[in-house]
Amino acid sequence: MRLVMLGAPGAGKGTQADRLAERYGVPHVSTGDLFRAHFRQNTELGQTARRYMQEGHLVPDDVTEAMVWQRLGEADTHRGYILDGFPRTLPQAEHFDAALSAANQRLSGVFHVEVDRAVLQSRLTGRRSCPECKATYHVQFDPPSVADVCDQCGARLVQREDDRSETVARRLEVYHTETEPLVQYYARQGLLRTVDGNQSMDEVTASLAEQLALIGLAHD
Ligand code: AP5
Repeated sequence: MRLVMLGAPGAGKGTQADRLAERYGVPHVSTGDLFRAHFRQNTELGQTARRYMQEGHLVPDDVTEAMVWQRLGEADTHRGYILDGFPRTLPQAEHFDAALSAANQRLSGVFHVEVDRAVLQSRLTGRRSCPECKATYHVQFDPPSVADVCDQCGARLVQREDDRSETVARRLEVYHTETEPLVQYYARQGLLRTVDGNQSMDEVTASLAEQLALIGLAHD
């Protein structure tokens, strides 16, 4: 299976991609996580990406694509993957289509997780992330058992630097201008499946499972 999760910042793409990846035994490939891993390792790519991410801008297409092609060339993606955060611009989508065609591959589907804007703001500002194991929490909707401590590995949770409210506003604007056109792009290809992301996490997972069954990817 090769799936793309499409949706605004805070829509729940990462949360749902994690669940699907575990269920289907394929990797969750998040471009945001790949960039953050690079800047933790202090690579040149990580330093470049951080400058854009801190301001809520997109990292340039050529930088992003080179990183994605490298990741999708790794052995664990051969049975498929769930892409979260890529593609995010029309050129990225077109170049991705060309790369898939060249490899004689095709996407199984593109899942658009649609969430009202007012909900997105509170999801992002309340998000807490584990810097060690990448688990994600929410102070209100999905709190850890002990405040600010990761349930899975015990590390102290942090707020992402791009989840400050002024940066969130820019990220939502950038989503509207740069990424939202991909909804039509994939609808024209007959690949788009929209789910209501305003529901609870479990309800969104159930909606995704229903849509996956419709495209012949049901799972027990
Ligand atoms: P990235 O890390 O991809 O961020 P994003 O797309 O802005 O998405 P988020 O991770 O913020 O949200 P999400 O939809 O995954 O929501 P989550 O599941 O965490 O990208 C960061 C930056 O990297 C970009 O701004 C850009 O600079 C750069 N970048 C990345 N890809 C790029 C590309 N292709 N090209 C160029 N630049 C790129 O959920 C959010 C919160 O809500 C959590 O706290 C969660 O617990 C909670 N939650 C989730 N679902 C629910 C629910 N149903 N009900 C209640 N709470 C929920």
